[in-house]
Formats: sequence, C-alpha cells, structure tokens
Amino acid sequence: MSFVEYSDLIQDGDVAIVYLNHNSAMPVKVQAGSQTQTRYGVIRHSTDLIGQRYGSKVTCGKSGWVYVLHPTPELWTVSLPHRTQILYTTDIATITMMLELKPGSVVCESGTGSGSLSHALLRTIAPTGHLHTVEFHQQRAEKVAEEFKEHHVDHLVTVRNQDVCKDGFGVTGVADAVFLDIPSPWEAVGHAKTAMKKHGGRVCSFSPCIEQVQRTCEALADHGFEEISTLEVLLRVHDVRTVSLPLPDFGPDSPAQSEQEVAEKPPPPAAPNHASVTLKTTTPPREIPGHTGYLTFATKPRS
Ligand SMILES: C[S@@+](CC[C@H](N)C(=O)[O-])C[C@H]1O[C@@H](n2cnc3c(N)ncnc32)[C@H](O)[C@@H]1O
Repeated sequence: MSFVEYSDLIQDGDVAIVYLNHNSAMPVKVQAGSQTQTRYGVIRHSTDLIGQRYGSKVTCGKSGWVYVLHPTPELWTVSLPHRTQILYTTDIATITMMLELKPGSVVCESGTGSGSLSHALLRTIAPTGHLHTVEFHQQRAEKVAEEFKEHHVDHLVTVRNQDVCKDGFGVTGVADAVFLDIPSPWEAVGHAKTAMKKHGGRVCSFSPCIEQVQRTCEALADHGFEEISTLEVLLRVHDVRTVSLPLPDFGPDSPAQSEQEVAEKPPPPAAPNHASVTLKTTTPPREIPGHTGYLTFATKPRS
C-alpha cells in the first residue's frame, strides 16, 4: 500500500480507510491480531481485512457493514487526525491546477500543518517530483514525517523543522511552484522567490483574511512577481431529486389541423384523472457553505 500507487489486496501494516458513510471515514493501521471498534461493530484485522480486496464490504458485528477502501489523498483529508486547520479538496484541486503541477514537479510548501495538502501534492508530483515542506512546530513536523513514512511517500518529501519567514525553504533555485499557508505569508515571499527556478514558476498563498491578502499582494509585486490574482472557491452543490408533476392538459388538437384531418383521426384515449410524469430535477442551495480562504496566485518571470 502506498498513497501514490494502488494495490489490490489489504496487507499487514497497511493504512486502510474504513468508510462508514458519506460523512464518516476513519483510517485504520492494519495489524494482524488487532481489532477496530466501529459504530456498526468490531472489525477483526486478521480475518476481516488482511488478504481481502480493497473496496470490499466487511461485515462487522451481527448486522452492520462498512467498506474498506484504499487510501487516497481525498480520503485522507476527510479522515486524518487534525493538528491544525486543514485545506479541503475543493481548494486543493484549484491550487493543483493553478500551480500547474504534474508528475516531476518540485514544490515548496509551508506550513505543513496536518499534511492534508501535502498528501495531494505528493500524489500529483509522483513518481519523480519532490516536495520540500517547512513546519516550525516541532511535534507537527515529526508527526507528519512519521505519517509520510507509514504511507510510503517519504522518498518524495523532505520535512524541515524551521521558520520559513526567517530561514526560508532550505533550497535555492529548484522549485517549480511554492505554496504558503501561514499567518504572515508576505514575510516568506522573498524566500519563495529564492527557492524557485531561474526560469520562473508559480506561487500561491492561502489566507482567510483580506488584510493578509493585501499585504501578500504588495510583497509579491515588490519582489517582481507578475499576473497577481486572488480568487475564492465557493462550492455550490445542487440537490438532485425525483419529482412528480401533473401532466398538462392542452385540450382538443390544435386549430391548425384541417376539418377533414380532425374528422378522420380517432379520438385520443381519455387521460386518466390526475395523470402525472416523474422526472429528475435539481435545486440550488439557498446558502453557499462558508468562506474558507482567499487563494492568491502569481507568476515569477524568468530571471
Ligand atoms: C493552517 S496550518 C497548514 C495546514 C496545511 N495546509 C494542511 O492542509 O494540513 C498552518 C501551519 O503553519 C505553521 N507555521 C506558521 N507559521 C510558520 C512559519 N513562519 N514557518 C513554518 N511554519 C509555520 C503552523 O505551525 C501550522 O502548522
């Protein structure tokens, strides 16, 4: 099992995702002889998990069941142990696209936080790219390094426990892209530029407050970044429902028909009372879920 490669069968030592329902998933370290309690009953690792196919439906207890899924960055984001605020998949998808990331990209990131974004970045840049991630909180840096190892992605990432605003990313002239999720990103913009390749690249900063965005945009312009733009991603989920509508009754045929046509045509079958048609429809939400943050993007030109 690895977060960047799919395997068919669950093995001892894997991290599997126990998927309870649409709103609830939990990561489980698979260990022969261990048990995991879920609200639907117990899962016995040796018999219920090891050797089973990822995606299997596992019966736990007498009547309950869960799916056991191969880990992905998306499932990790909704099930990881939070040490900090994290980025979610809607923002992550936009960040990945706007930073133009692909297999082989070299990326610098700070702060690492709970590693939600880091796992998605690693999946995108694998198998030949590299992530340099900087986190100044020692326990967070150690914990995320441990998780990268357990998820078999540690060969793709270097974790540095330092202050990015003072000490930068620890690399010079290597990054295709830089991502910042720290309280004072404007203090790290100079270090971002230093870390980036001579021929340029893309930078993104995530901030919840517009005052942070203003200062970051000023710093980006002062350091010669171009194409500075800020956006906010608001996800609008439509509710797909089945509705039943009464069939309209248009009365007798249209007057455009000749009298002879009308005379020759057999009468239509009588429409049953309350005839209706069933169809799928969607309704937009009344409110859009809350603001997460502003994403500011910029391009470093060739130097
Ligand atoms: C909101 S969290 C990042 C969450 C992360 N993007 C994720 O998706 O899991 C911000 C992190 O930045 C770290 N941090 C704040 N200022 C920093 C700095 N100057 N240098 C390095 N890390 C910093 C904090 O310790 C915290 O863990």
